[in-house]
Amino acid sequence: MLHNIDKILEEAGRFKADTKEELEQFRIHYLGKKGILSELFRSFKDVPADQKREVGQKINELKQFISTKIEQLLADISEDGGDDDARDLTLPGPPVQAGARHPISIVRNEIISIFGRLGYTISEGPEIEDDWHVFSSLNFPPEHPARDMQDTFFIEKDPDILLRTHTSSVQVRVMENESLPIRTISPGRVFRNEAISARAHCIFHQVEGLYIDENVSFADLKQTLLYFAREMFGKHVEIRLRPSFFPFTEPSAEMDISCQICGGKGCNVCKYTGWLEILGCGMVDPNVLEFNEIDSKKYTGFAFGMGVERVAMLKYQVKDLRLYFENDIRFLEQFKAAY
Ligand code: PHE
Repeated sequence: MLHNIDKILEEAGRFKADTKEELEQFRIHYLGKKGILSELFRSFKDVPADQKREVGQKINELKQFISTKIEQLLADISEDGGDDDARDLTLPGPPVQAGARHPISIVRNEIISIFGRLGYTISEGPEIEDDWHVFSSLNFPPEHPARDMQDTFFIEKDPDILLRTHTSSVQVRVMENESLPIRTISPGRVFRNEAISARAHCIFHQVEGLYIDENVSFADLKQTLLYFAREMFGKHVEIRLRPSFFPFTEPSAEMDISCQICGGKGCNVCKYTGWLEILGCGMVDPNVLEFNEIDSKKYTGFAFGMGVERVAMLKYQVKDLRLYFENDIRFLEQFKAAY
């Protein structure tokens, strides 16, 4: 009897199945009502008493072995799909998790596209700059506070090497290297030595613009910015320009857009003024033109600069700037629909 069980074990061990049907035949052959194991159990009563223990153990082992084998074979068949007829090719595939663009990228691309429609080229430049391109050629006086360690990250002193605090430096490089007329925007990352809060960060993104040609006027600047504001925030947006100061522009202004939340009536987003500050601008100071060897008698120009985080905050009602840098998936996923 023991020898017989060993033979059955060996035979079952050699079995292989390609289909579920073959496997089912195998199961019936061994474990079915009239199968080999039932037969073994039935003849168990004839086993001499002194062998019962050993034979019983062996039969149980065989049963265990066959059950495990069936499970394994079933798993193998299911893994490679079993027989082709069982596959339903019309079922939809598993969903693909699509990523989303970062809101800063979305808004930067939109700004680029709006000015692209007005014929502006895109220029880029280094993030590590010298004093000349960030400050001196832009008419910053030597004692200007931006040149202080408190406001600017310096890498080296004398000669000064620093992280650019605005992308106006790129526009200086354009004035150095390209012929007139110039009509360009410079998107890029900038760095300022500020404490991080809901409203300020030491790294952020800007898009600055420069237009130099004969007869460029403040009216051109205003119309360009109105076009930008309406493309960006909607057809009904109004703008207003408030006098301001920048070393590199004269006259200078800051631009507000009418609050889109309350339609200008006043709410807590616009702090009950009806207006939201969005960018700085002005006519290029003749000193800057002359520093860059452009004849300020013949040519005039305007410049403007905006923070991409700020524009995105206004567009998407983001209350805390730090959200842009934390990469919290719950925040980022909300922009899936945007692009
Ligand atoms: N460079 C200025 C800033 O970083 C922005 C600006 C650009 C203002 C051009 C006026 C004209 O704040």
